[in-house]
Amino acid sequence: MYLRRSVLYPVVKKYYNIRLVSTDNFTFTEKSEPKSWQEIPGPPTRPVFGQLFNFLPGGIFYQKKEQMPEIMYKNYGPIVRFGGTFGSPPMIFLYEPEAAFHVFRNENWTPVRPGFQSLEYFRKHYNKDHNPDESTGLMTEHGEVWRKFRTKVNQVMLQPKTIKLYSHILTEVAEDMIKRMKSKRNEKNMIEGKFDTELNLWALEAIGVVALGDRLNCLDPNLPKDSPARKLIQAVRDVLTVTEELDFRPSLWRYIATPTFKKAMKYYGDQTKLNEFFINKSIEKLKDKGTANEEKGVLEKLLEIDYKTAVIMANDMLFAGVDTTANTIIGALFLLAKNPEKQNKLREEILSKQEKLPYLRACIKETMRLLPVVGGNFRQTTKEYNVMGYKIPKDMFVIVANQYMCMMEENFPQAAEFIPERWIVDKSDPLYYGNTHPFVYSPFGFGVRSCIGRRIAELEMETFLAKLIENFQIEWFGPPMKTRASSINYLMGPYNFIFKDVK
Ligand code: HEM
Repeated sequence: MYLRRSVLYPVVKKYYNIRLVSTDNFTFTEKSEPKSWQEIPGPPTRPVFGQLFNFLPGGIFYQKKEQMPEIMYKNYGPIVRFGGTFGSPPMIFLYEPEAAFHVFRNENWTPVRPGFQSLEYFRKHYNKDHNPDESTGLMTEHGEVWRKFRTKVNQVMLQPKTIKLYSHILTEVAEDMIKRMKSKRNEKNMIEGKFDTELNLWALEAIGVVALGDRLNCLDPNLPKDSPARKLIQAVRDVLTVTEELDFRPSLWRYIATPTFKKAMKYYGDQTKLNEFFINKSIEKLKDKGTANEEKGVLEKLLEIDYKTAVIMANDMLFAGVDTTANTIIGALFLLAKNPEKQNKLREEILSKQEKLPYLRACIKETMRLLPVVGGNFRQTTKEYNVMGYKIPKDMFVIVANQYMCMMEENFPQAAEFIPERWIVDKSDPLYYGNTHPFVYSPFGFGVRSCIGRRIAELEMETFLAKLIENFQIEWFGPPMKTRASSINYLMGPYNFIFKDVK
C-alpha cells in the first residue's frame, strides 16, 4: 500500500501527536480510543446560526482573499470540522491524501454523493410520472439503485471506440464556434457580449450531439427566437441558475414552496420535454439511416437499453456537461494567455499535424490542476471510520480538499505555476506528476462513481482548444481572473481576452 511520509507528516504529528500504524491498512489512529468527530478542530459553531458569524466582521472568513479550504487548513491542520449552518449538515474536510483515500476506497461499491437536492425532489416526488422502482439518473440516485443504473450505462458512455466516433462532428462544432467568435470580435479583437455565455453555447452544442444525437445549431447567429434549440439553450441556463440558488445558497424551499422552487419545478420539467423532443427527432432520423454496418453512437446504444434510459442520461449529460467543459476551456485560455511561451509551444505541436498531441493533453491537465471546476471530491459515509485519530460516524459528509492540495508545494513543486511539462516529463524529473499521491489530483472524481462523461469531455476540450490555438494568438490584460465557488467553480468576468489572428 502506498504510504507517503510527506512534509505533512511532521505537521500531522505535531498537531495530533499520532503515529502511522500500518502500511497496508492505513489509519492514523493511536492505540488509544479515537476521539469523537466533534473534537476535530475547526471554526467555532454557534447554535442555530452555525458558521454564519465566521463570515461576518471579525470572523475568520471575513473578506479574506484566500478560499475557505486554505484558511481552514492554515488555522486547523489536515483534518477540519466545519459545523452546519441553518440546518445544513456538518462536514469534515480532509487534506491528507492517504486518509482521504482510506475513506473513499471503502465507500467505493455503492458510494453516496449528495448534492442536487431540488433536482432529486423534482425527479422523485414532484414528477408524477416517476415510478419508485426505476432510477431517476446518476445525479440523483445513491446506493444500490445508482449502481444498477450506472452498470447499464457505463459501457456506452466510457467505451473509447464509441466516443471516438464523435471526433469528426466535434471538429465541425469547434470550427463553427471559431467562425462565430471571429464574427463577434470588435475592433480591439475582443469578443462582444458575454464570453461565458458564448462558451456555454459551444459546450451545449458539443454535448448535444452526443446526448441528443444531432446538431442543435446553437451557434447559428440567425437561430429563430421561437425554435426548440433556442428554448433548450434557455432551459439549460434556467436549470443551472435555479439549482445553484436552491441547493448551494441558504434557501427555505425545503419548508415552503418559494417562488424559485416553483420556477425550478417548471424548468426541470421543460428541459426534460425538450430533450424528449430532440431525441424523438433523432429516432426518426435513425430509422432512415439504416445503420447495419456502422458503429452505433451513444444515443443509439442508450436507446437500445430503452427510451427512458436515453432520456434520463440526456438530462444528466446536459446538466453536468455544459458549465464544466465551458469553464475548463475559459481556464485554459486564461493560463495560456498568461504564459505565451507555453501557448507558442502548444501551437507548434498543433500545427505539426502529428497524430498524438501530448502537450495539448498536458495543458488541459494542468488547467484542471490549477483551476479545477470541482474543488473537491465529496461523499456521505455509509459506515464509521477511524481517521487521523477521530471517529467519523456513518452519514457524515466528507470533502477532500483536492483543489487546495494541488496547490501545496509538497504535492506539486512550483505549485502555483502553469507547467504542463510536469505531465509528460520523465520519472527522473523532480516535476514528474507521478511523485505525488494519486489521490491529490482527481478532477474527474474517484472510483466507480467518477465522472461518466470524462472521455467525452476530454475529446470535446481537446478538439476545441486545438482549434482555438490554431486560429488565435490569445492575450489577456488587467488583473487575474477570479473564481466563484458554487455548485462548481465559475471563472468570473471581466473576460479580458484578446483574440488576434494567428499569422
Ligand atoms: C471538464 C469537464 C468535467 C469535469 C471536470 C467533471 C467532473 C466530475 C466530477 C468531479 C464528478 C463527481 C465524481 C465523483 O463523485 O467521484 C462528475 C460526475 C459526473 N459527470 Fe462530470 N465532469 C466533466 C464533464 C462532464 C461531461 C461532459 C458530462 C456529460 C456526459 C459529465 C457527466 C457527469 C455525470 C452524469 C456525473 C455523475 C456520475 C455518477 O454519479 O455516477 N461530466 N463529473
